[in-house]
Amino acid sequence: MTESPRIAVLGAGNMGGALIAGMLRSGFAKPGQLTATVRSPEKAAALSDSYGIRALPGRNLDAVENADLVIAAVKPHLMSGLLEEIRWGLREGRILVSIAAAFPIALIEQHIGRPFPVFRAMPNTPAVVGEGVTAIAGNSHARQEHWALVEPAFRSVGAVCYLDEDQFHAVTALSGAGPAYVYMVIEAMTAAGLKVGLSRDVAARLAEQTVLGAAKLVRDSGTHPAILRDRVVTPGGVTIAGLHELERHGLRAMFMTAVEAATAHSRQLSGKLNDLARPAE
Ligand SMILES: NC(=O)c1ccc[n+]([C@@H]2O[C@H](COP(=O)([O-])OP(=O)(O)OC[C@H]3O[C@@H](n4cnc5c(N)ncnc54)[C@H](OP(=O)(O)O)[C@@H]3O)[C@@H](O)[C@H]2O)c1
Repeated sequence: MTESPRIAVLGAGNMGGALIAGMLRSGFAKPGQLTATVRSPEKAAALSDSYGIRALPGRNLDAVENADLVIAAVKPHLMSGLLEEIRWGLREGRILVSIAAAFPIALIEQHIGRPFPVFRAMPNTPAVVGEGVTAIAGNSHARQEHWALVEPAFRSVGAVCYLDEDQFHAVTALSGAGPAYVYMVIEAMTAAGLKVGLSRDVAARLAEQTVLGAAKLVRDSGTHPAILRDRVVTPGGVTIAGLHELERHGLRAMFMTAVEAATAHSRQLSGKLNDLARPAE
């Protein structure tokens, strides 16, 4: 496998764009190695201007012809059309990674119609700042040399874990969607600061840095969050008064039901995409 892989990101929107930004930021890829596609010419021009990369409106097959690693990053309902467009460009020596939520590997293989290394990855948007997390699964044609390219590409934008594809609904619900939950927590903590009289700027800074610092401490210390939480609590003190309210309103149950609902939704979406792909009787 080449040392400077050429990478095509098909559908460089929020997530595809985050991967491009992250791979450039980490030095994993130089602008000359990257090609992006979007639909609109204006967005293609904006991507070229921002990152100095080659960006094309449509023309996915052109992008694939110049790539070793192809990352499909369009919305799930557009995946079938994209795969039909690029399938003949997926030749020996190339690898396809799909980041589309709920779009199973079996369906991708069905579109390609011949043995080909296919990966499914579920990244998240903190990839922009090199703090993403990506779950990866490969199909039966994914060999060591393919993993050797896919894994560092995603590791360059954060942490990586390997999972069976049947766990992807849960991953999508927890870490794929997760940044949105955390942004809501930061927003809520900022509002809480305003409620008790802090200025907007101070409240926002305290909230964001507290979330960042707490997450970093959990990761770097390897200590269970319950133990770290306990270290903040003084008997009869301020923290336990706040925690009591969070318990009373069911914070943990709320997160559990939220992730459960999102997992169920991903499963449902997958069923619909499978139905659409099934030829009419
Ligand atoms: N957003 C996340 O946090 C996240 C996390 C993990 C996985 N994902 C997955 O990533 C995928 C993209 O999500 P997103 O949030 O990034 O959506 P998005 O912001 O709407 O990006 C999709 C991009 O695809 C482009 N596009 C649509 N049809 C195309 C085509 N035929 N050829 C080339 N480009 C095309 C669009 O171009 P225009 O802008 O010109 O219309 C847009 O830039 C989804 O499958 C989602 O499940 C997203």
